[in-house]
Amino acid sequence: MRQFTEETLTEAVVARLGNVENARFKQLMTGLIRHLHAFAQEVRLTEEEWFEGIKFLTAVGQKCDEKRQEFILLSDVLGLSMMTVAINHETAPGATEATVLGPFFAHGAPEFEYGGDLTENATLKGEPTWCTGRVMSVAGEPIANATLDIWQAKADGVYDVQDPNAPFELRGRVRTDAGGRYGFKTYRPAFYSIPVDGPVGVLMEAMKRHPMRPAHMHAIVSAPGYQPVITHVFVHGDPYLESDAVFAVKDSLIAKWEKLDAARARALGMPPASYQLEFDFRLSPEEAGEAKKARRQIAPSDAVA
Ligand code: BEZ
Ligand code: FE
Repeated sequence: MRQFTEETLTEAVVARLGNVENARFKQLMTGLIRHLHAFAQEVRLTEEEWFEGIKFLTAVGQKCDEKRQEFILLSDVLGLSMMTVAINHETAPGATEATVLGPFFAHGAPEFEYGGDLTENATLKGEPTWCTGRVMSVAGEPIANATLDIWQAKADGVYDVQDPNAPFELRGRVRTDAGGRYGFKTYRPAFYSIPVDGPVGVLMEAMKRHPMRPAHMHAIVSAPGYQPVITHVFVHGDPYLESDAVFAVKDSLIAKWEKLDAARARALGMPPASYQLEFDFRLSPEEAGEAKKARRQIAPSDAVA
């Protein structure tokens, strides 16, 4: 057949995947084609509307460069990032829950000793915080030498990597000691707006949604033999916890930044009006991840015809 109708076109496009050998790729493309066609049919998409859609996606691509990832931002505000997190991270009982990576992670952050100060290059002041806690297995055993990759926005809501010439700021890698404990100094995070100077900002405006994220610190916690977790710690009491622009809040990740009394602050080498965050991370053993991967292998019977 070479001529298609609204009723026959979808299966004709899917049938052209007949030579694809990679079963997973075939499954992904089949699903994508079917859902895109179903979307167009459901909303009775006009040609003008689709052309607007193409212009929008073009603008999203053109906004991307080494420092700016507008497609991640788009995925985040549409909830697609959190949907993939939900699908791929059924948290083992007791393990720290995962949430979005976001567009501002950077490899190669400086390493800090126990007690290190992530504000050492700070260009903006904030409220000093002593961050401490343990990294443990889900069974509660301390994990020595675990790595915590930490990053957070400056007081103006901007990340260091958004300025191509700036040094790393409020970002670092710290390790746990023999007792699984970590400790570092940083500032108390503040709520901020996701970048709205691009097409995703225009979309948020059109959807009448605010672009704010509740105050949070990002962490990737990893250790040999355990599944790494990409997560956040959110500040208890933040006004945007109920309406995070990227849907990333989980109750178990909300923590209290407690005021330190003067004596304790002095003992820790912190200024008088400082905060303390105490937060434990718990990692699942690696085997669970491998077993899960095995479950996800496509069985021959799942391969799409
Ligand atoms: C972030 O928390 O850094 C972030 C996450 C998603 C979109 C924009 C920013
Ligand atoms: Fe963030």
